[in-house]
Amino acid sequence: MYTGNKLSLNRLEQDFVELNFNNCNGSINKFDRETLGELSEALDILSSATNIQGLLLTSGKAAFIVGADITEFKAMFAAMGQQFLDDAVRINGLMSKLEDFPFPSVVAINGFALGGGFEICLACDARVISNNAKVGLPETGLGILPGWGGTVRLPRLTDFATALQWITSARQYSAKSAQTVNAVDLVVEPENLRSEALQFLQKMAEGQSDFKQRRQQKLSPLPQPADTIEAVAEAVRDAVISKVGNHYPAPLTVIELMTESSQLPREQAIEQESLAFYKLSQTPESRALIGLFLGDQHIAKKAKGYALALDQKLPELSKAGVIGAGIMGGGIAYQNAIQGYSVTMKDIDQSALDLGLREADKLLNKSVGRGKLTEQQALQMRAQITPTLDDGAIADCDMVVEAVVEHEGIKKQVLSALENQLTPSTYIASNTSTISINRLAEPLQRPENFCGMHFFNPVHSMKLVEVIRGENTSDSTIAAVCGYALGLGKKPIVVNDCPGFLVNRVLFALCFGLEMLVEQGADFQQIDSLAEQWGMPMGPAYLMDVVGIDTVNHCHGVMMEGLPERFVKTADIWPSEAIFKAGRLGQKNAKGYYKYELNEKGKPTKMSDPDAVKILQDLFGPCRELDQQEVIDRLMLAMAMEMVRCLEEGIVASPAEADMALIYGVGFPPFRGGICRWMDEEGLQSICDRADQYVALSELYRPTDKLREMAAAGKTFY
Ligand SMILES: NC(=O)c1ccc[n+]([C@@H]2O[C@H](COP(=O)([O-])OP(=O)(O)OC[C@H]3O[C@@H](n4cnc5c(N)ncnc54)[C@H](O)[C@@H]3O)[C@@H](O)[C@H]2O)c1
Repeated sequence: MYTGNKLSLNRLEQDFVELNFNNCNGSINKFDRETLGELSEALDILSSATNIQGLLLTSGKAAFIVGADITEFKAMFAAMGQQFLDDAVRINGLMSKLEDFPFPSVVAINGFALGGGFEICLACDARVISNNAKVGLPETGLGILPGWGGTVRLPRLTDFATALQWITSARQYSAKSAQTVNAVDLVVEPENLRSEALQFLQKMAEGQSDFKQRRQQKLSPLPQPADTIEAVAEAVRDAVISKVGNHYPAPLTVIELMTESSQLPREQAIEQESLAFYKLSQTPESRALIGLFLGDQHIAKKAKGYALALDQKLPELSKAGVIGAGIMGGGIAYQNAIQGYSVTMKDIDQSALDLGLREADKLLNKSVGRGKLTEQQALQMRAQITPTLDDGAIADCDMVVEAVVEHEGIKKQVLSALENQLTPSTYIASNTSTISINRLAEPLQRPENFCGMHFFNPVHSMKLVEVIRGENTSDSTIAAVCGYALGLGKKPIVVNDCPGFLVNRVLFALCFGLEMLVEQGADFQQIDSLAEQWGMPMGPAYLMDVVGIDTVNHCHGVMMEGLPERFVKTADIWPSEAIFKAGRLGQKNAKGYYKYELNEKGKPTKMSDPDAVKILQDLFGPCRELDQQEVIDRLMLAMAMEMVRCLEEGIVASPAEADMALIYGVGFPPFRGGICRWMDEEGLQSICDRADQYVALSELYRPTDKLREMAAAGKTFY
């Protein structure tokens, strides 16, 4: 009946018709403009065809339909109000047309049916699903809402509370859980999916199941009384706010919208949905979250691309080694084990090995306790780690990560000895956080096989791995190390060598911002609280306590030595030095900027400490309140200007990688999309003007000439 590039319509026996989604230009089905165009043509054909008993929707791909094409969102959302709404009316018209056909429709969901891909399923009269498939409406995770009838049909098929929970959480649900709440009708074995769905359709066509009555439910207001709806909405609103605060407008808009539209019939409810969808599509939060989704795809593609660009295929890594069983080495060994790599962990100290293994055990036991692993799986993973004091035990590794103490001389000695113990093809990476990769490569005979691999602490939960290319590092080393990081479930981003590499370089610019503020009498507790309200996971003073005040002072020294033109101490003694000199090392000895006590779960809890406040007041005078905008600007602009320099110097290749590095490396607030996205949203001219106000304080704030040119030309990073 119809054959397009994305879908086809075929008559089956007994006047049933199959609408099969099968994108011939890619491995997945998604709702891009072309697919929607073809769907419109196919539905027109069905409208004018005669003698149709029923419609079966199927997919020719491993997933059903993964959703709308997010790469088209930018252009779609740039459409002005009326055009956007016209588009929404047109697409919703397709869904309603399908729902209103005089014959029944059943969808066979064989894999992921997400977003728009699930919304079309909701427009069908019944949903038969393979037991390994997943469904969901993830749009609020992108700062928008399901705009093709999802907020209208899901509550009418399930119930208000369930639908609100599904949509505000943006989660994916298994076939079984979807059936429990009536979001799907029948769960079947994958091999029987098509035949069972067809059978379901035949029964509907024969009148064994009243599809018209099912439809009526979706066309009418919700049966639940308004006060029940209000009470549910209130509870979900409280839960959302307590989880993410007021920073994410999408779930809050959804709650308001669905409460109102619960009392409306389908057409009016869909109109309300389109208006709310448009409103959200214009928010900075949706631009940021969609940008992150695309940024994530970009870094994944880039990381895989290094291997694809090589002339020769890289051999599979079979055995990894970690040198140093401390906080980081132990964490890296654990990460290897849970991702299926066999790993040898070497140290010079038996007690360090014991400690590393105990940490791994603790994490594995936690996973067993949470039901994420069985005892058996945990034991198998634990057995992947071989602790050793013997140099010879790592000789057959094909990838070794050095994570010994942060001391250049010791590291050089360890790396040089390692190179002699390993085969010439083995890749070696250092987890140093501050020492130049080029300097560490100096004693090596094969510097081409060496690079930095900067994991973040705690290794198991921090997603970023900075892969640092030294001047002699080969492309195959970068490709192999990125492949290894991906295998460990991490997000590798390749950067060039410089003091602090990328993340610490910009983070320490922010920390210098804090030091200067406190030196001028600002209250570090007020600064922390403002930074947290702004969305940072922790304020800078608290962050320094977590990192360790000794480490912070060491890193300050590295930055001042490496980039002396900007990283300059503006007083004889700086706040973090004063804190350090008072023997306060941060969380590690329970006192730094704050003091710490262990809570009932054994976690350090931060408390205000008058002693620390006094140390700073004695040096810098009584605390004074600062303007909120000034505090945020002095922290963020220092970071932003340093990031601009990193981009211009080629330390990081693109704004998208820069932003993803901060999101995954320091927990930069996702709803702001990263520091480059933040600069775009603020406007580059405003950024330059505001930064200029502080240049007299520090060169860290000076905008580059190129940034000024971009601002003058009205350009943006994205
Ligand atoms: N701790 C962090 O937050 C963090 C974050 C990122 C990177 N790093 C970097 O990771 C590396 C390790 O840091 P850490 O915090 O795990 O240190 P750590 O002090 O906890 O552990 C270092 C381990 O190295 C061992 N060691 C020392 N000399 C050795 C040798 N010759 N051979 C084998 N083992 C040796 C020590 O016994 C110790 O167990 C450092 O380069 C550090 O800068 C640390």
